[in-house]
Amino acid sequence: MRPGTVSLVLILGIIPVTAATPTFHKDIEPILQKRCQGCHRAGEAAPMALVTYEQTRPWAKAIRASVITGKMPPWQPDPHYGKFSNDLSLGPGEKEKLVAWVDAGAPEGNPADAPKPAVFTDGWRISKPDMVFEMPEEFDVPAKGVIDYQYISVPTHFTEDKWVQEAEVRPGDRSLVHHAIVVIDNGTGVNNEEYLAGYAPGGNVQIWKPGEARLVKAGSTLVFQMHYQANGKPGRDRTRIGLVFAKKPVTDRIIAMQVMDLGLAIPPGNPNFRVDASLVMKDTVKLVGMRAHMHVRGKSFQFRAVYPNGETEVLLDLPKYDFNWQPYYYLETPKLLPAGTRIECTAYYDNSANNPFNPDPNTWVRWGPQTWDEMMIGWLDIAVPVSKEHSLRGALHQ
Ligand code: HEC
Repeated sequence: MRPGTVSLVLILGIIPVTAATPTFHKDIEPILQKRCQGCHRAGEAAPMALVTYEQTRPWAKAIRASVITGKMPPWQPDPHYGKFSNDLSLGPGEKEKLVAWVDAGAPEGNPADAPKPAVFTDGWRISKPDMVFEMPEEFDVPAKGVIDYQYISVPTHFTEDKWVQEAEVRPGDRSLVHHAIVVIDNGTGVNNEEYLAGYAPGGNVQIWKPGEARLVKAGSTLVFQMHYQANGKPGRDRTRIGLVFAKKPVTDRIIAMQVMDLGLAIPPGNPNFRVDASLVMKDTVKLVGMRAHMHVRGKSFQFRAVYPNGETEVLLDLPKYDFNWQPYYYLETPKLLPAGTRIECTAYYDNSANNPFNPDPNTWVRWGPQTWDEMMIGWLDIAVPVSKEHSLRGALHQ
């Protein structure tokens, strides 16, 4: 044995003792930067910032509880199915570190250990937008009552086609905007409107991979579909959309498709009502993302692919659907769907009195825009090679 080895063992023996107590700057700050500050910083969806020690310390107990229950970071998919590039879950050992830090009295440690502050685009969760469109004027939201959907047109004045790589819809006042969708109207009629991006509780930005983008044709108008909800106080909102254009040549056009059941009818009192819908791909396409949409009776949602060879694969499973979190789930690796693949969606609803969010368990519930109505939409983001895109309109059938 060389003499040096002995002292190395001794040193290794000491490290675990000093390292056993995680400190804010050394151990916790990097986790918060990576997993929490996207939402927990000024101007974002979460109610408090978790950036400095002073901001974080009072929340230590709540942080411990929220990571143990899995409430934070908010991420619903069953980990057995699919790998997603926008996965918010904690990495190996991170939960244990957060808990050990709180249990040790949430010490600050040495500021010299702190990582560099995380860099965010001020006011956005996407990169700095190349262009921002906003509603032409503020909308007055009354204190009470039901507010009809508002459809607000904003011309782009684009003189050439634009490829959108990232898009984010930002409400002016989150407490008034129930959800917002921005669609592209390229002048060929209402039925040809195409989904661009949306805001729903929990926020969801659209970020596609380099080479993938949504097309906004020259001369298009953006239509903001605004669903406002009265919150007891009169208020005003002016929602915006930020767009980042593709900087690289685009090989795949991203198209939004919907798997849905417009005829759903949920019986009164039923605690576990199943609704199915499906869509067959008539051409070979790549699936890049999925998003489930239901209202407050929604309980669970699953996407499956049934391949032409008869095999079935679960693509995304949300065992406990939460109306407050409706992000797009982007696949780490796009999934090739050969022509003839059927995408099946299964949703369950709880229309019983045991559902604390149920506004009325004694009624039949049908499709409709308001929260006391229901919806069943499995959104798909499909990548279609730009070269064969012209054949697409006829390529997909319900
Ligand atoms: C996608 C956005 C998002 C991310 C990422 C996120 N949070 Fe939150 N967080 C929220 C929102 C919104 C709320 C308030 C609404 C709620 O409590 O559901 C919240 C609430 C909380 C609360 C208060 C919970 C309570 O029970 O009152 C804690 C503590 C918290 N977050 C900790 C964290 C920690 C720690 C992380 C990272 C490990 C994290 N959050 C990641 C959005 C986020």
